[in-house]
Amino acid sequence: MKALLAVLAGDGIGGEVTAEAVRTLERVAARFGHTFEFQTALLGGAAIDAVGEPLPAATLALARRADAILLGAVGGPKWPADAKVRPEQGLLQLRKSLGLFANLRPVVPHPAVLDASPIKAELLHGVDIMVVRELTGGIYFGDKSRTATEAVDVCRYTVEEIERVVRLAARLALGRRRKLCSIDKANVLETSRLWRSVVERIMPGEFPDVQVEHMLVDAAAMHLIRRPRDFDVIVTENMFGDILTDEASMLAGSLGILPSASLGAGERGGLFEPIHGSAPDIAGRGIANPYAAILSAAMLLRYSLRLENEANAVEAAVSRAIDSGALPADIVAAGARPGVAARAAQRAGVTTRAAGDAVLAGL
Ligand code: IPM
Ligand code: MG
Repeated sequence: MKALLAVLAGDGIGGEVTAEAVRTLERVAARFGHTFEFQTALLGGAAIDAVGEPLPAATLALARRADAILLGAVGGPKWPADAKVRPEQGLLQLRKSLGLFANLRPVVPHPAVLDASPIKAELLHGVDIMVVRELTGGIYFGDKSRTATEAVDVCRYTVEEIERVVRLAARLALGRRRKLCSIDKANVLETSRLWRSVVERIMPGEFPDVQVEHMLVDAAAMHLIRRPRDFDVIVTENMFGDILTDEASMLAGSLGILPSASLGAGERGGLFEPIHGSAPDIAGRGIANPYAAILSAAMLLRYSLRLENEANAVEAAVSRAIDSGALPADIVAAGARPGVAARAAQRAGVTTRAAGDAVLAGL
């Protein structure tokens, strides 16, 4: 197949990790007989520095033209939180402009790095969670205002916004263990009460084979650590999903290996990015973990290009790379207990390029 792929490296380690994802996709194209054309554009702080805005028109135009978008990360201390234009606005505008309302964040700890998790390995065997985070509504996008003495962020959801993300999550559950956990704060928030009523209305009629559970977000934060194996698909609103997926990443040992896919109504034009940030503290040193970006490329193959075999091949290659001990510093550093991670720790962690090479070798 022929596909146009937009590459938006963004800031910090974004460029280093997307470079490895692009190398992986080039190898996939060569091996499976596809033609991928890569076009790059500026986003986030890099775009602010170059043209004064975090999402330049040219970047949005490329994103709309592309069959899929590969993104690195945005933000950094160079662009302070109280500045008028911020790198993160570029990412949020991009998600909103492209209508990418569902953010899929799979959490599957790799057996070889269970020791890298701060959580006991015995709790982690068999964990396989797909978090579906609503991405274009809620408090992120409600009206905002600020005076010297007061600030307001409005949290708003419409029935239609809830329905479409719940349906997408339920369809994913059908292809998995058929369990859907909807997370809200219905004991306090009106938007959560609406959320819960929509789930209760559409699930029994449209998805009778999916078992549904409702959980309050505070309890969910606890159960994710206490009994992570019990979760299959989680669906939740924007900010709860943002917070819970950083928490859930610890089940996998590091933010550095978790990918994500942001999808809209159609297959084309999805956006694929690691869930980690721009990590300015290690940017430019060639030691960032590229696995989250490479696994995001696998999700791109699966969800936007519908190349399931190719996606599986990339995921298997990352698994083999990890098994072979090609562990970047973030996974190594966490693995203080005996096991693969600790053995690799003696070698202080492989470089970004070496990890990418290990994946190519596996392909
Ligand atoms: C994420 C990030 C973003 C978010 C930031 C960078 C705006 O934390 O993708 O999880 O909050 O959505
Ligand atoms: Mg986040």
